[in-house]
Amino acid sequence: LPADIFPGRRNSIGVDLADPLVRDPLLQRLEALESRHWYAGPTFPSEDAGEEAPINAPQDLTHEVGTRRDSTEEEVRAAITQAEFIQPGWNALGGEKRAVLLEAAADLFEDHMDEFLSLCRREAGKTVLDGVLEVREAVDFLRYYATEARRQFSAPIMLPGPTGEENRLHLAGRGVFATISPWNFPLAIFIGPAAAAMAAGNTVIAKPAEQTPLIAALAVKLCHEAGIPEEVFQLLPGAGDVGQMITGDPRIAGVAFTGSTETAQAINRSLAAREGPIATFIAETGGQNAMIVDSSALPEQVARDVVASAFQSAGQRCSAQRMLYIQDDVYDDMLAMIRGAFAALQIGDPTDFAIDVGPVIDPDAKAALERHVARRKKAGRTVWRRKLPRGTANGCFVAPTIIELDSILDLKRENFGPILHVARYKADGLNRVIADINSTGYGLTLGLHSRIEATRRYVEARARVGNFYVNRNQIGAVVESQPFGGEGLSGTGPKAGGPHYVARFATERVVCIDT
Ligand code: SER
Repeated sequence: LPADIFPGRRNSIGVDLADPLVRDPLLQRLEALESRHWYAGPTFPSEDAGEEAPINAPQDLTHEVGTRRDSTEEEVRAAITQAEFIQPGWNALGGEKRAVLLEAAADLFEDHMDEFLSLCRREAGKTVLDGVLEVREAVDFLRYYATEARRQFSAPIMLPGPTGEENRLHLAGRGVFATISPWNFPLAIFIGPAAAAMAAGNTVIAKPAEQTPLIAALAVKLCHEAGIPEEVFQLLPGAGDVGQMITGDPRIAGVAFTGSTETAQAINRSLAAREGPIATFIAETGGQNAMIVDSSALPEQVARDVVASAFQSAGQRCSAQRMLYIQDDVYDDMLAMIRGAFAALQIGDPTDFAIDVGPVIDPDAKAALERHVARRKKAGRTVWRRKLPRGTANGCFVAPTIIELDSILDLKRENFGPILHVARYKADGLNRVIADINSTGYGLTLGLHSRIEATRRYVEARARVGNFYVNRNQIGAVVESQPFGGEGLSGTGPKAGGPHYVARFATERVVCIDT
């Protein structure tokens, strides 16, 4: 399209996996990267470095992808000291220059697509399709937040006042931001909050999930190659204890966390108990996401969208569908069609391009999901499970599962994996369904399949969720088009990939001059 039809920034186009001329050479290049061994350690390592721990592929725990060296307390303190020292200079650079650096990083991310894809599938167990979507989202976050840096951080807003008075509103970085990111989007949600924090003039101490530090280390290295100073964006790998050392330091001005609701609540409590300035806390957490399907819905479309929402990425998306309500009148037929699509899913090692559902992240995740299924079976619930194929014994595979329940209220916690729950509701019981969904306290995504406009309006007016998707799947929010994030137990906002996100990482200063 000519540039004047879509002026300005565009999202990344990614890779056309349907085209064999693109896909087959890509798969060969990924094959050649299989044996590469990766490393993640602190950006500024101290002399007496500790032990390295192996990072193994979730689909084959005997395959070592790389090693991680956890950050020490001394390294955490030193990193924050450097980040604090350089932050005023980074802030003074202004929105335009920071934007140019973030865009240079986005270009390098695209150039290194193969390595990122290789790490997505070996370190995080993702399919190639999920890997491509992940790299695209990371690139889009970098470019979108660069645009926001230009838009909001280049010049102050001039405010009204009487003659002889000049009033200016400036946005500025808050100081040193800590970002603590999850393993399920080990690149996109690692770089998104960090890019926003940097766009706003903060320096960043980034702690990736302990399961996926290798892809984060490559991302940080490329940002440095793009010209972002090492002191501005520092990697501190480690487990929860390293996260606590970082967030417990009173020099940290803000924390952007993505992960479980329980961990977010723990960080929030520790920030509140901490000495020093009141820290900004941005949390994106989980969901008990439902979809409602009424008798006007198109069955084939429902089957496709339910299977994608519940089982793509092995259900390891915070947006993923956990609960499906189907109107009583069409329940049996609709469920039969969904079970048909479910039966066609290919399960196994995602290094095979044909695979739809790969492993879950680690043995603990697998054990928790298996306990959940076992408890429901014991309680006499109807459970449909796929069989795991041969060759999956060394990996963290959970057989995709559908469990019948009476209501979403039967679910006490988020089950972060390929498990879908279904229940029926009567045509006059929609208000009860929405009340039950709202009463979970979560508010991330909600899906609705209905061709009745009044039903859409009814649900939209009552549901307390961040992202409401109608007649489509409920995953895969696109940067700038569907800003993403929830409310209540699902997070604090602002929405990632939305126009208010970057400003939340900033502080506001007013200058008033009498002339
Ligand atoms: N942003 C992702 C999605 O929309 C979830 O984290 O699926």
